Amino acid sequence: MAKDTLTITDNRTGQSYDVPIADDTIRAVDLRQIKVAEDDFGLMTYDPAFMNTAACRSAITYIDGDKGILRYRGYPIEQLAEQASFLEVAYLLCVGELPTREQLESWKETITYHTYVHTNITKFLEGFRYDAHPMGMLLGVVGALSTFYPDAKDIHDPANRYLQRVRLLAKMPTIAAFAFRHSRGLPFVFPDNDLDYIGNFVNMTFSIGGRHKPNKVLQRALEILLILHADHEQNCSTSAVRAVGSSHVDPFSAISAGIAALYGPLHGGANEAVLAMLDEIGDKKNVPRFIDEVKGGGGRLMGFGHRVYKSYDPRAKLIKKVADDVFEQTGLNPKLEIALELERIALEDEYFVKRKLYPNVDFYSGLIYQAMGYPTEYFTVLFALGRMPGWLAQWEEMLLDKDQKIARPRQVYTGSEERPYVPLERR
Ligand code: CMC
Repeated sequence: MAKDTLTITDNRTGQSYDVPIADDTIRAVDLRQIKVAEDDFGLMTYDPAFMNTAACRSAITYIDGDKGILRYRGYPIEQLAEQASFLEVAYLLCVGELPTREQLESWKETITYHTYVHTNITKFLEGFRYDAHPMGMLLGVVGALSTFYPDAKDIHDPANRYLQRVRLLAKMPTIAAFAFRHSRGLPFVFPDNDLDYIGNFVNMTFSIGGRHKPNKVLQRALEILLILHADHEQNCSTSAVRAVGSSHVDPFSAISAGIAALYGPLHGGANEAVLAMLDEIGDKKNVPRFIDEVKGGGGRLMGFGHRVYKSYDPRAKLIKKVADDVFEQTGLNPKLEIALELERIALEDEYFVKRKLYPNVDFYSGLIYQAMGYPTEYFTVLFALGRMPGWLAQWEEMLLDKDQKIARPRQVYTGSEERPYVPLERR
């Protein structure tokens, strides 16, 4: 018998089947041969929330959740966060290799060239109410870009895909900054292409009557946060981009689906939820009571727990270091005391220890963003800005993967058997 196989005996029929094992997986379609009768559909797997299903093969990001390892294209996140620029990481994720000096210069130049958006985008943004959530604006505007670039529908042309990738990376800071300005009733500041990617974004968000005076420490801290968010393999928003992109829609529409997924409080919206939680707790002395409420089923400790990381989230470790640099510049965020106390108690408490719940990337990032001057509802926009290279790399990989088809999960039907329609007057 071949060694790399799994033998399954169906006790309903007594029949045995050999199913090949490759990369520690079996193919779910191989189970379809397991039938009770010839006209039977065949066995399926039931896996709500994809708890144990690999939906693709990917060469982009490696995570070992038990050991707390995260690598982009093989490079440890710690080294990238310390030494690389965000655009370098974006190139690495999208192209597959670190750029040479020349390649990086040309990549930066191309992206800088595309930072402007059509002025109708400003009119589109003005249509949003003054209190519109910036993630709602972001997802609307990125989706709307598909109407400005109908050429983006040609997803089978590599040069075209490259152009749309550049457009999305280049315009994202402009749109994100415009959403910020709209929320504050401030005039839009257009890109200043003498500035670098991060400097330009910060200038477009914060400048009042002239160029914003840069704080290099804060700008580098923001850049590190974006690098830490740049990809995270098959998370909810990336899976949304892949699933929607698998219908062969243009990338602006596929990416806006990712933005919508990221908006949710269990995903990117968690950093916003952490701040709301810290506000609710209000004071360090209230932390034990809050922990008891969580343990009693009265909500979750936001910024804790992860589907994949079950020892610690390496990004959270790096973010704590960034927090020190930032708070040195801005002064301590008063909520930090509450966060540290929450972390201290939770890391000792059996409830959290038993369930392997540790601080995740969102636990401290919100505090840093707040210290930098971003309002709470804007945090997820920053996450989206960072995640763009990952979404784009995964979208391209999905399109080039010969194994992929339009995403279409199966279901186990649990509804009524066939029954005749009952006319309204007889119901
Ligand atoms: N606080 C309290 N209990 C929790 C938490 C939490 N944050 N997270 C999980 N649990 C409990 C949960 O109640 C369950 O307990 P029991 O076994 O008694 O029913 C157990 O831990 C397992 O939870 P789960 O919901 O099955 O775990 P999951 O892998 O489906 O969920 C998660 C992962 C991130 C959605 C979840 O931990 C969570 O809701 N955390 C808070 C939200 C958050 O911080 N999200 C950001 C994730 S990192 C950024 C990103 O990638 O988007």
